[in-house]
Amino acid sequence: MNEPLRWPLEDLWQALAPRLPGFSAELLASVDSTNTECMRRLRTGQSDPLLLVALAQTAGRGRMGRAWQSAGTEPGAALTFSLALPLAPRSWSGLSLAMGLCVAQSLQAELPAASSCEPRIALKWPNDLWLQGGGGPERKLGGILVETASLLAPNAVSSTARWVVVGVGLNVAPRSSEGLSMPAGCLHELDPRWDAPAALGRVVEPLVNALQAFEAQGFAPLVPAFAARDALVGRVVRLSDGREGVAAGVGPDGALQVQSAAGQIEVSSAEVSVRPVMP
Ligand code: BTN
Repeated sequence: MNEPLRWPLEDLWQALAPRLPGFSAELLASVDSTNTECMRRLRTGQSDPLLLVALAQTAGRGRMGRAWQSAGTEPGAALTFSLALPLAPRSWSGLSLAMGLCVAQSLQAELPAASSCEPRIALKWPNDLWLQGGGGPERKLGGILVETASLLAPNAVSSTARWVVVGVGLNVAPRSSEGLSMPAGCLHELDPRWDAPAALGRVVEPLVNALQAFEAQGFAPLVPAFAARDALVGRVVRLSDGREGVAAGVGPDGALQVQSAAGQIEVSSAEVSVRPVMP
C-alpha cells in the first residue's frame, strides 16, 4: 500500500510566517485552478500572503488561455500550487523567467559546469520547464503561470496594492503524453524518490526569496543563470506570428532575442509563443 502523502505546510508556515506577516498555507482536495482560486480570494478580501496547494485541479490553466492537465489521477502524481503575495517591483518584465529559473535551480542542485548532469532541467522561454538528456527527446516537466492583480488596499480610499500570483505545475510521476504537443517528462526521471510534498518543500521558500530579490533588482542579474539553462539558444525557432530566426538568448528585461533574416527581433509579448523548429 502507498504511504500517505505528508505535505510540509506546517514547516513552510513556520519558515515563512516571520517574513510574510499573515501568511497562510492550505491544501485543497480539489479546485478548478489554484491560480483562479487565489484571484477569487484576492477579489473578495484576501489581504494576506497565501499558498494554495491542490491535490486535483478541474480547470488548470496555462499560458495564453491553454489548459493545464495534471499527470494522472493519483493524488501526488503532479504538484500544483499557487503563491500569492503583494509585490512592488519597478518593472514586471522577466518575472515569469525568474520564477522558472528558481524552480529549476531548487529542484536540481547546481553541479560544476564540466560535469554532465543528466537529465537536466532546462528553461524554454518564457515559462516552461523542460527535461533534456537522459537518453530521450526533450520533454515538458512543468510550467509557470504568473498573473497579477491590482487591489484596493484595505482601509485605504484610493491606494491600490499590486499582487502577484505565481502558479506552478510539475509532473512528478510518469504520465501519458496523449494530446500533448510534446512528450511529458517527470521528476521521477531526475530521482525516483521525489514526491509532490518533497518538491513543494524544496521550491516554496526559494520562490519567496526569488520574488523578494526580483522586487529589489528585477530580472537583469539573472541573465547569466537563465542563459546556462536556456533550451532555445542557438536553435532555429518559429514564432506564433509566423516569423522565424535563431534564438540568441534573453535580454536584461527577459525579452527573447531572435536573429532573423530581416534583423534582430525582440519578443516580449506574453501573447507570442515560440517553438524550436525540428531539423
Ligand atoms: C503553462 O505550461 O503554460 C503553465 C502551466 C501552469 C500550471 C499551474 S498548476 C498550478 C497553477 N494553477 C493553474 O491553473 N495553473 C498553474
